[in-house]
Order: sequence, then structure tokens, then C-alpha cells
Amino acid sequence: MNIGQDMQKDILKVLISEEEISARVKELGEQLANDYRGKDVIVICVLKGACVFFTDLVRNMDCQLEMEFMAISSYGGGTKTSGVVRIAKDIDTSITNRHILIVEDIMDSGLTLSHMKKLLESRSPASIKTVCLLDKPERRECDITPDYCGFTIPNEFVVGYGLDLAGFYRNLKYVGVLKPEVYSE
Ligand code: IMP
Ligand code: MG
Repeated sequence: MNIGQDMQKDILKVLISEEEISARVKELGEQLANDYRGKDVIVICVLKGACVFFTDLVRNMDCQLEMEFMAISSYGGGTKTSGVVRIAKDIDTSITNRHILIVEDIMDSGLTLSHMKKLLESRSPASIKTVCLLDKPERRECDITPDYCGFTIPNEFVVGYGLDLAGFYRNLKYVGVLKPEVYSE
């Protein structure tokens, strides 16, 4: 990998602008607030990728909710899934008979969310739904679709607004496509 010192220079193109993200996140937040108003909902942030989306989304949800954080990953440092899903941090609270909304940055192979849903289902919640900022349906390896989705994108490796390559670029305000020379060996 050839990650440069200037992150803007490593971006080939902006796929989704800051303005487009903010408008869509507001819409999603309003829709979710309407769907969850009056329900006992725990919104779970999947660390680290969803952290930026999560903090914007919950501030657009004008309803009672609790926040929890979980770290689960199917990725090493590269751009392809390893197929290995690992729980690095579990949530701190009981979810029995409570509504669960899982917030994820992107659904790619679908392995991460499918594993996480199975795990949380075994704790008998009232319901489990997923919201992803991005969906790459072309890459799916299991039978799962997000219940709520910000944007459907083509099969390109993207960074920004929480999404990373080897830990970098999460703090970009937009979602962009990296120049191939950045992640080629
Ligand atoms: P899945 O288990 O293959 O669906 O992978 C989901 C996880 O892979 C996401 O939470 C991301 O962390 C990571 N991921 C998938 N595609 C991309 C991408 O284009 N850029 C950055 N991370 C990605
Ligand atoms: Mg992630």
C-alpha cells in the first residue's frame, strides 16, 4: 500500500458529496424516528466504520433511544473480506424484548451483519433491523439486505465518512474512490 501524506491527493473521485450525505442522513433519521417513535429502541453502532454515520444519524432521530457500541470485523488491513468475523467489543446491556437497530457503514459481502444479527437474535430482542449508509449488492455472499440504506453504490473500494483503508481516510467529509495505486502492492 502507498498511503500518502495528503489524503485528498489519494482520492480519484468524490462518489457522494458532503451535501448529498447530509441530506440523505437527515431523511433516513426522520424516517427512522417515525418508525421507532414510542418503541423501546437501542441503536447499535458497529465500530469503527459506522462511527461518523451513527453520530449524524442519531442526531436526526427525534425520538427516545439508547446508544450502544459494538466492534466486529471481517476485514484485515486490505480491501478484500477475509471471511473471518471477530467480535472485538460486545454491547454492555441486555437487549431482551427490546427493539434493535444496527447501524453499519457499508454492506459488502454481508457476512459481518449476518453474523451479528444471528448473535443478537440469540438474546431474544423484540426486533432487529439494520441501517447501512452504503450498499454494494454486487458483492453479496449471503442472503441479506439492509432494512434501510443511504445509497446503493457500484463495486468500487470507497473511503471517507467513517470508511477506511488500513485505518486511514475515515475523517474525509465525503465518500470517495481511492486511486488504484494507493492500494496496489
Ligand atoms: P462485509 O462483511 O463484507 O459486508 O463487510 C462489511 C465491512 O467491510 C464494512 O463494515 C467495512 O468496514 C468493510 N468494507 C466493505 N467494503 C468497503 C469499502 O469499499 N471501503 C471500506 N471498507 C469496506
Ligand atoms: Mg466496518
